[in-house]
Amino acid sequence: MAHAIEKCVSIRPTLAEIDLDALVHNLATVRSVLRPGVGVCAMVKADAYGHGAVEVARALEWAGAEFMGVNLVEEGLTLREAGLKSRILVLGAWYAHAHADVVARDLTPVISDLADLAEFSRIAAPGRARVHLKFDTGMGRLGFPSAAVPSILRALGPLTNVEVEGVLSHLAGGREETEAQAKSFDAVARELAGGGVRPAFLHLANSEAIFSRSDLHHSLVRPGIALYGYAPWSDAPRDAAAALRPVMRVTTEIAHVKLVPTGARVSYGGQFVASRPTRVAVLPVGYADGFARALSERGGFVVIHGLRAPIVGAVCMDMMMVDVTDIAAAQVGDRVTLIGDGLSAADHARLLATIPYEIVTRVSVRVPRVIVRPGGGAP
Ligand SMILES: Cc1ncc(COP(=O)(O)O)c(C=O)c1O
Repeated sequence: MAHAIEKCVSIRPTLAEIDLDALVHNLATVRSVLRPGVGVCAMVKADAYGHGAVEVARALEWAGAEFMGVNLVEEGLTLREAGLKSRILVLGAWYAHAHADVVARDLTPVISDLADLAEFSRIAAPGRARVHLKFDTGMGRLGFPSAAVPSILRALGPLTNVEVEGVLSHLAGGREETEAQAKSFDAVARELAGGGVRPAFLHLANSEAIFSRSDLHHSLVRPGIALYGYAPWSDAPRDAAAALRPVMRVTTEIAHVKLVPTGARVSYGGQFVASRPTRVAVLPVGYADGFARALSERGGFVVIHGLRAPIVGAVCMDMMMVDVTDIAAAQVGDRVTLIGDGLSAADHARLLATIPYEIVTRVSVRVPRVIVRPGGGAP
């Protein structure tokens, strides 16, 4: 392997290496397209898209990201417990009875509901809670409707213990939709300003808008998938986004090799029938680790000695089988790459008709995340 593994807790050789140098490089790649002074809210929700939130957030904090973006209050509390000092924005806006925890642990709530606004004002007294207001400009998910500005301004009047530090919306994608959302967001910001609310941070841009719409950067951007090394669009990365480097690499080792005769069936349901005497390698990784059962019938493969080994038969819960007939050197103990070595999460996504986000987030907790820093850069 090219770089030293620093921490390894598993007996089974299936690992997800997390390259913090690549992560920090990707943050710099994002910064390279921003005007000076535009802040970054690094999206580390969903366990940093499956990469391990605490280690990823520590590296991004070290590298100067201004905010960490989580979805759940729980995710924010975990980062605080781990000693993160950065601003933490809670984008999911589900507070249930946790308003006091949010204030006590200095998490910054995104608000989509007037009742939450009042509750944060009550709890923060006699201090002030900084909040960000979210508007639904076309995603059809969370957020106040754009038409709610007058009622928000009225509600804010007596709420002296909240400070509107930010106003945001989220893009749904698509050229025309983005245009309409951007216009509606500008109109909301103007109307709020007319009512005396001029937040320090206006934010709209996700990874795609960061690389394709510099006019939408405003004062803060919220990159997610780009930080983990993937361009958000499905065709080949363009411009600055071409410099992004995947952060996660998943490998295992061959556990067992067997020769099966022509006509032998492999795995549940016997869908794979050997058309020649076939060397089959058994790998200790399966769908419980996040690799879809359907990969074999969709043309899935792994990389061994730099060569493609097709997955044969249904992927099992804990194992999968690959054809190594044409990789003569393959033997027990050899390294096998499931993500990396030219086989990316974007390739898996294409085979499974999904997006790289889903591939990396579903590498399950059973696969230990092992931090690597080939250049020794990040903390
Ligand atoms: C509110 C919000 N902002 C930003 C992002 C980051 O998006 P991306 O990973 O496409 O950069 C997400 C991700 O889903 C999100 O939900």
